[in-house]
Order: sequence, then C-alpha cells, then structure tokens
Amino acid sequence: MTKRKIVTLPGDGIGGIVLEQAIRVLTAAGFEADYVHGDIGWEFWCKEGNPLPQRTIDLIEEHKIALFGAITSKPKDEAAEELDPSLRDKGFVYSSPIVGLRQHFNLDVCLRPCRTYKGNPLNFIRRNREGSFDEPVVDAAIFRQNTEGLYGGVEWSNPPSLVYKALMTHPKFIKNFGNVPVEEISVSTRIFSRNATERIVRAAFQYARDFGYKSVTVCEKPNVIRETSGLMLSLAKQIHKNEFPEIDLWNTNIDAQMMWLTKNPENYGVIVAGNMFGDIVSDAFAGLIGGLGFACSAQFSEDGVGVFEPTHGSAPKYADYEKSIVNPVAMIESACMMLDYIGEKDIASRIRKAIAGVIEEGKVKTYDMMKMPGKPDVIEQGAATTQQMADEIIAAL
Ligand code: NAI
Ligand code: MG
Repeated sequence: MTKRKIVTLPGDGIGGIVLEQAIRVLTAAGFEADYVHGDIGWEFWCKEGNPLPQRTIDLIEEHKIALFGAITSKPKDEAAEELDPSLRDKGFVYSSPIVGLRQHFNLDVCLRPCRTYKGNPLNFIRRNREGSFDEPVVDAAIFRQNTEGLYGGVEWSNPPSLVYKALMTHPKFIKNFGNVPVEEISVSTRIFSRNATERIVRAAFQYARDFGYKSVTVCEKPNVIRETSGLMLSLAKQIHKNEFPEIDLWNTNIDAQMMWLTKNPENYGVIVAGNMFGDIVSDAFAGLIGGLGFACSAQFSEDGVGVFEPTHGSAPKYADYEKSIVNPVAMIESACMMLDYIGEKDIASRIRKAIAGVIEEGKVKTYDMMKMPGKPDVIEQGAATTQQMADEIIAAL
C-alpha cells in the first residue's frame, strides 16, 4: 500500500522547529506517511515576491492535507523594503499567505478545541466562596466561520459614490451619518452568506454529536446585530430542530460570554460564531488552558482540504536560539486534529494521552509552563527545551 502523503509547511521562525518535533511524535506513535515539503512564508516573499508560491498551492491541491507551522507577516511598506532589489517596483504587494490559503481553498470552517490538561500550572483557577480555589475543567470546541464577516475584506474609506448612495438609502445611515462628509467615512462590512453560515453551524452540531458534547452555543449578538447574528441564530434553531434535536442549543452574547468565561467555563461544550467573534472567543478560551503553547487549530473546506496549525505565530525572537525553548504541544495537538480528520483517531488519542501524562507528571515543563520570561537562560533554570518536551511525550507513548 502506498503511504499517505502529507504536505508540510514549516513557514518561518519557530514554525519549522515545532513542526519537526510534531512529526517525530507522529512517527513514534506509529503514524506512517510521506511528508512533502511546501514552500511558504517570508523567505519566498523576499526572493520571489510571493509568500504562497503556486507550486505550494498545487501540492495542497494534490494531497489535500497540510501540517502548517507558522509564518511571519509584516506591514506592507516594511515588506516592500525587504523584497529582493531585482523585484522592487514591479508591482509585488505583500499579503498574508494564511489569508491566501483560506481564500484559495475556501477553508471556511475553523475549529479550535480548548481542553484543560490536568496538572498544567497555567490552568485557570477560580476563588470559591470559602476562599479556596477551584480548577474548572474546560473542554470547549470553538467553531469559527473563517472566510466572511468582519474579516471578509469588503471595506472602504471615503466610499465610492455608488456605495455611498446605497448607504444613503438606509434610514439609520441618514439619521446617524447623513451629515458626515463622505471623505470622513470608513465602512467595514459584516457579510454572512446563508450557505457558509449553515456550514459552520452544521459542522458544530456534527462535532457535538461525534464527540459527545451536550450543547452547542451560538455566541453572537443577535439582539443588536440583527441581520447577520440573527441569521446564524435562526439557522441554528432550524438545524437543531430538524437534524440534531438531542443536542441542546444555547445562545449567548459575545460580551456576556467573555464575562461568563471566568465564571463557568466548564459549562460550555461546542461554541459557534462568525469570524471575528469566533477569533475572540477562541483566544479567550485558549487563555484558560495555558495560552499559545497549547492552542491548536484546524481549517477545512467543503471539498476536503484540511490545514492544521498551532494558533501561535512564528515568535521570531525565539527562532534563533541555539536550543529552542518554545512549547511544541500546540503543534503536536494540531497534528492530532489532522489524525482525527483522516480517520486515525486511535493514534491521535494515544498521543493526547501521552501529552496529558507528561503534563500531569509535571517533571518536564517548557518555560511558559514555568511562567518564566522567554530567555535562553530558562534552560539553566530548569525549563525543558522544545526537543526535550517532545522526547518526554515520545517516551510516554
Ligand atoms: P507569536 O504567536 O509568534 O508570539 C507571541 C508570544 O507568544 C511569543 O513572544 C511567546 O511569548 C509566546 N509564544 C508563541 N508561541 C509559543 C510557543 N509555542 N511556546 C511558548 N510560547 C509561545 O505572535 P507575535 O509575536 O505577535 O507575532 C510574530 C509573527 O508571527 C508576526 O510576524 C505575526 O504576523 C506572525 N503570526 C503568524 C501567525 C500564524 O502563522 N498563524 C499567527 C499569529 C502571528
Ligand atoms: Mg487570533
């Protein structure tokens, strides 16, 4: 039998470092694959004027599944300065290759699970009535619509006249902004389409059913943002009633959810939201379970492309350390999400158990778990290197 092919996209900075360790863990757990390298990130922007070369898109098109480290992004003018001199003034404009991947493959469903590891010193704790502390067990899976809404990019400053005229047909626009000169107006739209909204909501319910969660919470603001948040909530009600009646449907407002997060995070299961609120609520939940060293994510398209990556970026200040100190767990967990996706649930669950064992035992901890500022001397102070953390997980397997 030919081995499955997985595209690896190390990217920049610590991306390649954590990816290498994740692949060691996958191999040690008995997952057999051929890894095909894909070029992505800053180097290719500087050398070729494109951080997401067509050959990389072709690879993903062919193999469908990609493990992604992280990339470095910089503002447009800084990016222009770092472009190879032979490419300057030729019309190359930097744009994030992650956004490029999302758009090209329509990776509209983003999943970010946040589960407490027992014994993680970074776990959120809560003071209870008698003054002692509780450590609530968080097990939430956040589904974020990944391509539309406020991050959809449909926006203007000094909107063109057709847009302005259209806005001037809305009574609230006339009342609130009708006297503002058009040059002083900036508009960012929040567009939800029915198909994409249904897809994210259905994906959330399906996940709840597949993984035994009791509830799906729509986390939006339908009382104020009536059209878009309202669409998501009404579709959720229909899908709940017709397809998933055994699962509870809850509805919270994003602002209140942020408050409840520290009050009763253990009560939430699957959460679904639009692009920006999903981004907010997933970062907030990730903070309760240890932050960027633990936050994993997956993005899927309707036709089966899946890209699996830690939520963190390329952390450039740590990239050149002689011995890397960053936590590889977020990347390894992202690789486990890939295993779930391609039907290797047993291997995924063995790796997760190994990670849980290492964290609970508490002997080997990266600097973030020791609440140290990230400096090369953390190793002398007893923090594990990236590789030692992976070694320990492999030993636990
Ligand atoms: P970052 O996530 O790279 O790092 C922020 C801080 O989080 C680090 O300084 C470090 O203290 C901590 N951290 C991150 N990963 C960690 C890990 N595995 N273990 C322990 N601690 C960890 O975000 P930052 O510094 O804002 O951005 C750096 C670059 O990464 C920028 O160019 C940014 O555009 C890019 N970026 C890329 C992302 C991606 O590839 N998905 C996401 C976020 C940022
Ligand atoms: Mg974010």
